[in-house]
Amino acid sequence: MDATIGATADHQDERDAALRRYRVTRARTEALAAPLSAEDQTIQSMPDVSPTKWHRAHTSWFFENFLLTPFAPTYRVLDPLYGYLFNSYYEGAGARHPRPERGLLSRPGIAEIARYRAHIDRAMEDLIATANAATWRAIAPLLELGINHEEQHQELILMDIKHVLALNPLGTGYAPAKTAASDRAPELAFVPIEGGLHEIGYGGNGFAFDNEMPRHKVWLEPFRLGSRLVTCGEYLAFIADGGYRRPEWWLSEGWTTVQREAWEAPLYWQSADGAWRLFTLSGWRVIDPDEPVCHVSYYEADAFARWSGKRLPTEAEWEVAALSADIAPSGNLMDRGVFHPEAAREGGAALQQMIGDVWEWTASPYVAYPGYRPPAGVIGEYNGKFMANQMVLRGGAAVTPGGHVRVSYRNFFSPGSRWAFGGIRLAEDVQ
Ligand SMILES: [Fe+2]
Repeated sequence: MDATIGATADHQDERDAALRRYRVTRARTEALAAPLSAEDQTIQSMPDVSPTKWHRAHTSWFFENFLLTPFAPTYRVLDPLYGYLFNSYYEGAGARHPRPERGLLSRPGIAEIARYRAHIDRAMEDLIATANAATWRAIAPLLELGINHEEQHQELILMDIKHVLALNPLGTGYAPAKTAASDRAPELAFVPIEGGLHEIGYGGNGFAFDNEMPRHKVWLEPFRLGSRLVTCGEYLAFIADGGYRRPEWWLSEGWTTVQREAWEAPLYWQSADGAWRLFTLSGWRVIDPDEPVCHVSYYEADAFARWSGKRLPTEAEWEVAALSADIAPSGNLMDRGVFHPEAAREGGAALQQMIGDVWEWTASPYVAYPGYRPPAGVIGEYNGKFMANQMVLRGGAAVTPGGHVRVSYRNFFSPGSRWAFGGIRLAEDVQ
């Protein structure tokens, strides 16, 4: 049997499922961008932020560069310059437009980027349908990676547009508020977790990023993990106690950053007439003391923990606690449409808010697991080369696409970053 004729019969269920996932993911990106005007989609408010239209194009370039160009023999690039404009950080993929200058480009406009996305989609659908069996085996993991990559950029679209809109004196949000739960947060408790030899890291048969593997053993002393996230009310007590004026709770680099950046509160908080307001993706509103604190840096999370007489959990502690509590990968994620963390519930599970709401800063530096090797080739630049000077966050946030996050998932940001939806869960030693 000719390999090409046999192709479409091979792995047909797998191809159908992958095609559905591809379409859903691509459509979600467009749905997220839809409420944003061409002007909204063009702004870059700081070097870490990318314009929405850049995210839309870069996620398309990813499929072009890693799947279409190498594996689709008849594929023709739409514009050779797009490779220069929309390569993010892959040294092996050639020269790139400087990241801090992404917001200086009025062209290509959003109509041209929509055409680019459609061009990529046509070619990808064709590749998924017609690749022979050997090619399908080669592209299937890259397709899954490209889909997960686009999901990461969907969260970035919301993080980044929040920063853009927060700087605008008009103060309008991205989307009307979907009613967040306004529960009174239950009293903070500490859940005991057994010490000893545990295993962490992804060990399943589905998709996981390379940095979640290999699965390996860790030794933990017994500890206790906070039953819920730290609330804005608790964080306000830290501020009122001179949290941002007293160096004794801060790491040296954290204190230097507080001084240099003149931090007095989390990002997106504003004090007016003694009352604190915060900017959400639905605009400005009064702070709810029961909602989880969000948009703090690692330095702030660490200082708050020290002020509390507690500490941050390590990533291994976080994962072992999640595994022992059998935490499902669901919660207040992007699909809920709230786009903001919600208060914990009275009478909820022993460990609440582990998945969704806010990414939880851990005390662990982002380094390779024992035995980790980056994948060969340019794709190896995806995660491995960032394993220095960043801290791990766990659990996903209210802007993370549903189905994207797992208990083994490792997010990472530099310790001074605040524009991610980063929050705090405390831990304590067993005396
Ligand atoms: Fe990317």
